[in-house]
Amino acid sequence: MTKVITYGTYDLLHEGHIRLLKRAKALGDYLIVGITADGFDLARGKINVSQSLMERIDAVKSTGLADQIIVEEYEGQKIDDVQKYGIDVFTVGSDWVGKFDYLEDYCKVIYLDRTEGISSSMIRSDYRKMRIGIIGEGTLANKFFHECQFVNGVIPSGIFTENSESLDKELREISVNSIIDLLKHSDAVYVVSMPRKHFYHCWLALTNNKHVLCESPICLRVKDYDLLQHIANEKGLVLMDGIKTAYSLAFSRMMLLIKGGIIGNIVAIDTTCTSLLDKITPFTWDSLSWWGPTAILPFSLIMGTDYKDVQMVKGMSDDNPIFALFTYGSFIYNSGVATFKVGQGVKSEGEMIISGTKGYVYVPAPWWKTDYFEIRYENPANNRRYFYQLDGEGIRHEIRCFSDLIEGKLISITVSPAQSRMIISIFEKSNYAYRLDNNT
Ligand code: CTP
Repeated sequence: MTKVITYGTYDLLHEGHIRLLKRAKALGDYLIVGITADGFDLARGKINVSQSLMERIDAVKSTGLADQIIVEEYEGQKIDDVQKYGIDVFTVGSDWVGKFDYLEDYCKVIYLDRTEGISSSMIRSDYRKMRIGIIGEGTLANKFFHECQFVNGVIPSGIFTENSESLDKELREISVNSIIDLLKHSDAVYVVSMPRKHFYHCWLALTNNKHVLCESPICLRVKDYDLLQHIANEKGLVLMDGIKTAYSLAFSRMMLLIKGGIIGNIVAIDTTCTSLLDKITPFTWDSLSWWGPTAILPFSLIMGTDYKDVQMVKGMSDDNPIFALFTYGSFIYNSGVATFKVGQGVKSEGEMIISGTKGYVYVPAPWWKTDYFEIRYENPANNRRYFYQLDGEGIRHEIRCFSDLIEGKLISITVSPAQSRMIISIFEKSNYAYRLDNNT
């Protein structure tokens, strides 16, 4: 009996898949189909898959072409499978030519012509189509524009900016002269303007029936946020806080482990986020606005949004009296304390330590774009290290989550309205808007 094996994701099963499976089956007497696990796809950077593993297995099963279905869970599994199942022929589509030649030491390798004009990516792009306008400037606008290409169906429709010098050439080329023009050609917007303008930009987009992803903080006063959230709810629109760290794989897995009790009850969290500056311009975000939302994100996720008190100390720039070079803050909870240290134009070790009653989590610098963390215990023999692929600093996952929310899908990771309110409360507490309004 000739045994054949083939692998794939088989998302939204289509004609190309079916033709491939038929030809694979004809290469022998028994066909095994390996279908990628959700976690394996995520770990290898395939972030667009829209069906669950069970749905994809059921779809392949329903073709009646597979004699056996297995799940592909790890890098290098193919060699194991070929030996374990006594495989004679390994086959995949021609998009993989050369990639699996190393299996020739174990079995015959055949690349079958790929069917032209169809793919899972094409189908996803067709139904997910979202034109997203950008309002703002700076490095984040450039990164966001670049990352859109990795999310099926998301197309940047233009940018309205007050500082085109900060933009890459490609992004500058799609700039428009008025926000209203931009909104006319967009289904959603990404707001990355100066924090003091967020409220107005979000309000304008929501009242024009556009979904909003806004770089955190969404605004500077809690009552303004409540108004925006109210408009979004009334109109059935998404208003999402943009904190890319929240959507990175390592960070979200770390949160799940902590919630599962891996280091016991959490009594303290310490975060540090800093960056150096060439100079302070009118478009430079200060320490609290640039880093604050990221630095306190783990507090709200782990210790909750119901803190008893917050205390902050700021150090202002000599050159600019409203620019906080650094901000230290402590949130006091019934169960413990969470402290943050953020700096713009100041440098320190950007690590995070989460202390629990059984052990602690250590995330080395820069923890906000981590692909690695350690769970440490009294006995070092019990320590565990975790690695996860980080693609696009979490931005492409953030865009994918935004698009899923718009489609009405439930997603496991998101910054909730209560967390957005907590973030905004520290700006209110530090009189941020007042300082800007009065320039004192
Ligand atoms: N395949 C094919 N013809 C197509 C699409 C896929 O022959 N038009 C083959 C692939 O070469 C692979 C198998 O079907 O051997 C499963 O491919 P998969 O990656 O799941 O499907 P794609 O449509 O290529 O998915 P994506 O767009 O996400 O890359």
